[in-house]
Amino acid sequence: MKVGIVGTGFVGATAGYAMVLRGSCTELVFVDKNEARARAEAADIAHASPVSHAVRVSSGGYEALADARLVVLAAGVNQQPGETRLQLLGRNKKIFEDVVPSVLKFAPDAVLLVATNPVDVMTDLTVQIAGNAQRVIGSGTVLDSARFRALVAERADVDPQNVHAYVLGEHGDSEVLAWSSASIAGITVPDFFARRGTPWNDDVKAEIDHGVRRAAAEIISGKQATYYGVGAALARIAEAVVRDRRAVLTVSGPTKYGVSLSLPRIVGGDGVLETLEPLLSGEEEQALEHSANVLREAVAQL
Ligand code: 2OP
Repeated sequence: MKVGIVGTGFVGATAGYAMVLRGSCTELVFVDKNEARARAEAADIAHASPVSHAVRVSSGGYEALADARLVVLAAGVNQQPGETRLQLLGRNKKIFEDVVPSVLKFAPDAVLLVATNPVDVMTDLTVQIAGNAQRVIGSGTVLDSARFRALVAERADVDPQNVHAYVLGEHGDSEVLAWSSASIAGITVPDFFARRGTPWNDDVKAEIDHGVRRAAAEIISGKQATYYGVGAALARIAEAVVRDRRAVLTVSGPTKYGVSLSLPRIVGGDGVLETLEPLLSGEEEQALEHSANVLREAVAQL
């Protein structure tokens, strides 16, 4: 159960750290053009293994990715305060045109998990280069769905594990919170609040929407980057592949809209096994189409 991570900036390194803490794999290899950085991250993270899970952690060149079941692509630049994810496209496209063929040369059968932003467009680019849609997964809105669940859970004062709620579309400003299918312990969100006599109205919804949509921008304005949330999300997705979990996750991949975006998908050993058609209200369906339009405009720049 070997996983490779290409790009050992904050996101790649934190994903690896989360994989060791969760025991997501048995072997982890870091690759970075800055070899000293990859070596240092591997050494530091290896020291977490004896006190968490037995994972062999090392670093190397692309050849070290041979036999990896999954390779996380986390190379590239991240947004600065005030920048949107889509503004990173030009810079990160160039990086992927080098990275993806190099990974495929040594790990042609690996599932590729794209983390670099703008993640939906980078997923489309990776599918184009790899010529394979099923084995390319964008981390998409797995993180946004986690943020959504966390904020609903906080209001409801229950464990987020008991909240089922999905963010769909772009991992970015146009994303869509699928309120109509959100539930807490099998009960719709408005019913759950009504039964407990807790206030629930459009203002609360708007506050949660804002909290989810603006989460990254707010974290970036405070500490220049986000990495713990996405690191844990990447470990969760990697585990679904490496352990063939058939987990339902809002990962990004090609759609009927002509671009990659997030929908609930079954993720297992071979990557994306199935895309589930979400039940959406008319308003949500329109918002999803708008999100697809935003992404189509970005893809046109590829
Ligand atoms: C995030 O949502 C910046 O895409 C990154 O945390």
